[in-house]
Amino acid sequence: MSAYRRIIVGAHGSPTSAVAEEAAARLANQLGAELVLINVGETGSGEDILRAAANRARTFGIEAQTLHRVGEVAETIVSAAAELRADLLVIGDHGMGPDSHFSLGGIPSQVAHHSPVDILVVRTSDPTREHTYRRALLATDGSLTAHQATRHGDALAQALGAEVALIYVGDELIGDIVLRDTAARLDRDGIERILAKGNPAVQISRHAGDYDLVVVGNKGMTGSRRYIQRIVPSRVAHEAGSDVLIVRTVSRSFFDLRPGEGAVVEVDGEKVAAYLHDDGTTYALSARCQHMGCLVDWNSRARTWDCPCHGSRYEYSGAIINGPTTKPLPPVET
Ligand code: FES
Repeated sequence: MSAYRRIIVGAHGSPTSAVAEEAAARLANQLGAELVLINVGETGSGEDILRAAANRARTFGIEAQTLHRVGEVAETIVSAAAELRADLLVIGDHGMGPDSHFSLGGIPSQVAHHSPVDILVVRTSDPTREHTYRRALLATDGSLTAHQATRHGDALAQALGAEVALIYVGDELIGDIVLRDTAARLDRDGIERILAKGNPAVQISRHAGDYDLVVVGNKGMTGSRRYIQRIVPSRVAHEAGSDVLIVRTVSRSFFDLRPGEGAVVEVDGEKVAAYLHDDGTTYALSARCQHMGCLVDWNSRARTWDCPCHGSRYEYSGAIINGPTTKPLPPVET
């Protein structure tokens, strides 16, 4: 399964936009994904910009779709991403400089906060930078949503042939357990583990300089709970020296699932293990492991439901792959 199937990127005719477009085209080429170039502006004004952007994408072997829309830029790009069922929105970091850490006024920040899809923030200050991802740093705080983000980041790294490292910021004892557990879940050899102390956003950003890509969830990384949930991904997106992938791990509903994707979603306050098959069939199962009731976790690589507590594993249909459970995940009415 490709990590991303449809990538969307804004084409605005500026040098920084060109950097983001090229990063998106390169990634689309590496993943075999479709690329959509969107220009938002006055009627008819974007044709030349889109033509130039499409030509640039062609140099990466990508025949991109182009789209011109009129409207408020951030809102229009976000709604187009949802409408086109894009998996990934690529944006440049223009407007996200160190002087505007918590300013949400810039377009990239608005997009980052409201996007219905994953966001790749591309550093645009050095136009010669290649945006090829060979080393990825996956941040975790041990939460369920962080596990989703690290799984997703790992699937992308695998697709790109990149090495991964894990970072946890906080208590040493807990961090050691979280890092070992996360590394075991990723089922890969030789994962570097980084345990840091201090402010999670600062530490993750500091270590990011040694990597090409940092992966964070759009919720989580709460560290000692002193940090408001959205601040860490937001600050890392602003401050890290590397490109930053913000994985959307919250607010998923049944209707957000993409073909081949599963997630634990909430339906009427109940946790449901939901999966949308490539053929359009949806599966809705109890997300409670039938061994002792832990919440199962979607494994995007194997397309299975895995229980983090004692290792039970279920097919996407709920059938048992291995115990200790002796019962399949039961279907639920939605
Ligand atoms: S609760 Fe899931 S394996 Fe034990």
